[in-house]
Order: sequence, then structure tokens, then C-alpha cells
Amino acid sequence: MNAREIKPGVYSVGAIDWDRRLFDELIPLPDGTTYNSYLIKGGKKTALIDTVDPTKEKELMENLRKLGINKIDYIIVNHAEQDHSGTIPKILKLHPDAKVVTNPKCKGMLMELLLIPEGNFITVDNGENLSLGDKTLEFIYAPWVHWPETMLTYLKEDKILFPCDLFGSHLATSDLYVQDEAKVYESAKRYYAEIMMPFRNNIKRHLEKIEKLEIEIIAPSHGPIHSRPEFILDSYRNWVSDEVKSEVVIPYVSMHGSTDKMVGHLVNALMERNITVKPFNLTRTDIGELAIAFVDAATIVIASPTVLLGPHPNVISAVYLANALKPKVKFASVIGSYGWGGKMLEQITGMLGNLKVELIEPVIVKGHPGKEDFKSLDRLADEILHKHAALRKEI
Ligand code: FEO
Repeated sequence: MNAREIKPGVYSVGAIDWDRRLFDELIPLPDGTTYNSYLIKGGKKTALIDTVDPTKEKELMENLRKLGINKIDYIIVNHAEQDHSGTIPKILKLHPDAKVVTNPKCKGMLMELLLIPEGNFITVDNGENLSLGDKTLEFIYAPWVHWPETMLTYLKEDKILFPCDLFGSHLATSDLYVQDEAKVYESAKRYYAEIMMPFRNNIKRHLEKIEKLEIEIIAPSHGPIHSRPEFILDSYRNWVSDEVKSEVVIPYVSMHGSTDKMVGHLVNALMERNITVKPFNLTRTDIGELAIAFVDAATIVIASPTVLLGPHPNVISAVYLANALKPKVKFASVIGSYGWGGKMLEQITGMLGNLKVELIEPVIVKGHPGKEDFKSLDRLADEILHKHAALRKEI
């Protein structure tokens, strides 16, 4: 990605990673990603806001070279994760007098993770300003975007917010600015779902904090820049709100067809009741898609056969994920089957401790489901309908 001017003296100097398909060896990236870094040339000082993943170090260096940057005074670090901080050591090698500007928590993490010496740092307080001459940076602490040390940087004169991961999207694109809002919405929602959802209440507070700022541009560290901030701000307001939709997510596995028949019956029963239902066959699903479905759903129904007396391992993995992501889901149930015994139900419900859910009576079947079992699934669908209707009345 070439260096591109956003406003006079403000440049995007990061890199596009078209090929990356996995983040943290866990999170699928179907559309690649970008590592956005921004250079701000003030009247007196020059600051680099975040760097890039070390695999893209050369691109950052080349962009700085093309812009004729021979002195960087400050490296502003909003977040210590290496996809943004990993190239700091290289920058410091080329600009040994540059100061790494961040909060004390982030400083400690950078010293531990990247072995940056203490003498290289300037620490800033929440709300502190740093002048570059005719441009002023304000730092806003925003712990737990998904790590404990995160902060946001606001360029006052140009009204640009640099929020690092927050408001970003894993989307490799040549577009500097958001062009296709529907596409970016999906990528941004996936990103929120996969890493930020467990910190929903923290993010609510961050949104309140930035309400007072006049923001013309949001320049995140992944994906395209927002020239219409309300689009992404409204999306986040919606995702972090306490409101859920009348949707049921069904992560499931079936080994010999019994659980599959139960899921099929329940899906139809819910559709007949005009409830949106999203089944995910866990032997095939992209866990990012599953995480996205968790963002708005009122109910999760986990469906599993019994393997070695417990749930299928793919179900364990999905339940672990749901519990770790802490979606705002209100109700849960379990359906599934067993051959001769086991503790599949107890093990699944025992893994949902983080979710503040009301458990709706499960439907667990021995062998192939029969007439009475299908009636039980109809009763489950009725109960879900009733619970969702009650929620709407509360709102
Ligand atoms: Fe894009 Fe949390 O790093």
C-alpha cells in the first residue's frame, strides 16, 4: 500500500495483507486485513501513530522513505499487540532519538513483549495533550478494547480519531476510505464479535467518552478509514446495547443423524413461529460466522450427540467460545441424543457460567427421536416464542 494523504500533513503509511487467513492462530480472516499506520507531520515535530505487523515492516519503511521522512520524534502506541507494535524496534533502530509515547500500562507491556528499554518512553496521562507545533494530539485511555492497555489518540485540529483496533475491520482493500458500507459492516461486526464482544460494557463506556469529541474521520488500524463516522459509531452503539433480536443460534453436530433430525425439526418449528433461526453445523462452520450470529441473538440452543459420555468435541469448542465471548444472549437450551448414557447435558450447561441466561428445558433423546420427542421440540419452540415476546414487552 502506498503512502496516501488523508489531510495536509496526515498520511496513511501502513500495509495491506491480502493473504493472511488466520489471526492469533485462531480467528479466521476470510478477507485478509490491513495494518494501518499513520504519519503526522506537525510544524515542529513528526509523529507515527502505531506501526505494522513485523511481516510488513518493509512496506512501512518504504512509505516513510517515499515521503522523505528522515526524523520521527514520537511513536504513538495505542496498543501493545504486535500487529501494531511489532515494528517499533525497527523504527527505533532507524530513529534512535524517537520517543515511544504511550500510557504506563502499555509501556510495561512493550518492555516485556518487545524488550524496548525504559529510556525510550514518554508516558502520558488520560486527557494529556502533546503538541507537534500546529497539530495537537490528545490521548484518551480506553482499557479493554480487548487488552488492558489500549488507548485512543485524537488529532484535535483535523478532528481525526485514531482508535487502533476499535472500529476496525479485518478487510484487505485498496480503498483508503469505506466505499461499500454493507461489506465493511460485515467485516467490522465479525471483528467486534471475535475479539471485543467480551468487553461490551467497557466499549460502551469508551463510546460515551468520545461523544464529546467532534469527529470528522475515524482512522482505525485495520480496514478502511471512516469518512462517515456515524456509520460505524451507530453500528457499535447497536452491538453493545442490551437489546437482542428474536433470533435463535443453533451450533450443532450430528454423528448418526438423530441430532440432525432434532435440529431440522426445531429449525422448522421456529420458522413457523416467525423466529429467525441460524443453524451452524460445527464440522463445517467458520467460527467467525458463529461469533457474528451471537452478537444479536436472544437465544442459543446447543445441539450435540454423546461421545465418550460427553458432548462432541466440536460442540465443547463452540460452547467454550460462546462462554468466552459473553454475548448478550438471554436464553439457552440444549438438545441432542445419546446411545446408552452419559453426562452430555450436565457438561454443556456446566460450561455456560459466564452467560447470564435462563435455561429453557432441554430435550435429550435416547437413540432416534420419536413422536413424543418432536412434540417436546415443538414445546421448546413455543417456549422460545413466549420468552422472546415477553422480552419485547419489557422493552
Ligand atoms: Fe490489531 Fe489487538 O491488535
